Amino acid sequence: MQNINTKSYRVLLNIEDYHQRAKEKLSQMAYDYYSSGSDDQITLADNQEAFRRIKLRPKILIDVSENLTANSISCKTQILNSTTTISFPFIIAPTAFHRLANDEHGELATVRAAVACSTIMCVSTMATIHMEAIANEHQRYIKEKFPQSQSQLWYQLYVFQNRQFTQKLIEQAERCGYKALVLTVDSCAAGNREPSIHSNFSLPDGIRAENLIDVNNNEFGKKFRELPRDSALSWKDLDWIRSITSLPLILKGIMHPDDAITALKHGIQGIIVSNHGGRQLDSSLSTIDALSDIIKAIGHNQQIDIYVDGGVRRGTDILKAIALGAKAVLIGRPIIWGLAVDGEQGVRNILEILKKELNLAMMLCGCQTIADIKKNNLLVMNDNINRSKL
Ligand SMILES: Cc1cc2nc3c(=O)[nH]c(=O)nc-3n(C[C@H](O)[C@H](O)[C@H](O)COP(=O)(O)O)c2cc1C
Repeated sequence: MQNINTKSYRVLLNIEDYHQRAKEKLSQMAYDYYSSGSDDQITLADNQEAFRRIKLRPKILIDVSENLTANSISCKTQILNSTTTISFPFIIAPTAFHRLANDEHGELATVRAAVACSTIMCVSTMATIHMEAIANEHQRYIKEKFPQSQSQLWYQLYVFQNRQFTQKLIEQAERCGYKALVLTVDSCAAGNREPSIHSNFSLPDGIRAENLIDVNNNEFGKKFRELPRDSALSWKDLDWIRSITSLPLILKGIMHPDDAITALKHGIQGIIVSNHGGRQLDSSLSTIDALSDIIKAIGHNQQIDIYVDGGVRRGTDILKAIALGAKAVLIGRPIIWGLAVDGEQGVRNILEILKKELNLAMMLCGCQTIADIKKNNLLVMNDNINRSKL
């Protein structure tokens, strides 16, 4: 991994180092856009705090020497009914407008890092590079540089009032080789992000939400806020989506156990326990706190993968999420920080840091494989959470 010496006394060692460096590099408007949460940012802060409240109780005197020699093997994770293997249990979350962080390459830099690190990138509807160009670059990079990579692309979908347009996005994603459709279900209205209002957020000239450019109406891409998301979206619409695509469907933004059960009944392949990185409903539960009840409601059902995102900043956070029953975590802002600091290499560094930290945490907890994390009784929650939930 390449270390970046920004100042002679400072080497970027962890996600927070990258955050601080990205803050120095980004414009105030871009930083406010990426970093902010909604209202009083209670949920934004609590997503990270909740991980800190969970303590680890390590097991000792277990031979973990394999981890040292074959760390990528020990972190391999099977998802989507064992049809997909990722080299470690974290995935790049869909985040909008990567060209604000890296004007030259934007999402192309992110996708190259996903290929190099053999993981999944979930591409946002609001990408600043067209989904087809991202898919082409994904294929090219695998073919020319990393033929062993098991990287895949998923497509994150917002459902718009204009259903024809929505259908076109789904069909395009399928045609371009995206392997799953991640339907964001926590955004019937946009959250109230005051820092972005203060800094007058707008896309600079030349940067557009490329997937929203319609052949008949160029304005869609520029004035993305004027393409209304469908606040009437409900469970019955999932049947419509099902009828027009054969891609696995993953619902992003589930926080309530009842909704997880309903998703299971609708034959959904995965859910992401997410509060949109604290950008939607403020004072909602942190995601890692929400996860336990959802796992309890669903049981260890093999039909549906349960993922979690929000506030993952250390390898120990990933270990905690897996111990609580998540298949994998998704990483949002840290990817943006890596991208802003050093493009593709920055994102690769972020993924490598998390991988190294997870591997070390596993060793120190006596875990040789991801499966061992589940078997071991590693977690102690603080008083806020009823320990019996574990
Ligand atoms: C700047 C930014 C843009 C985002 N854009 C999207 C998006 O386009 N679609 C989506 O489903 N989620 C979006 N999210 C939410 C992320 O997918 C993810 O849920 C969240 O970032 C996870 O929290 P973390 O940033 O603490 O890792 C965005 C989040 C951020 C911070």
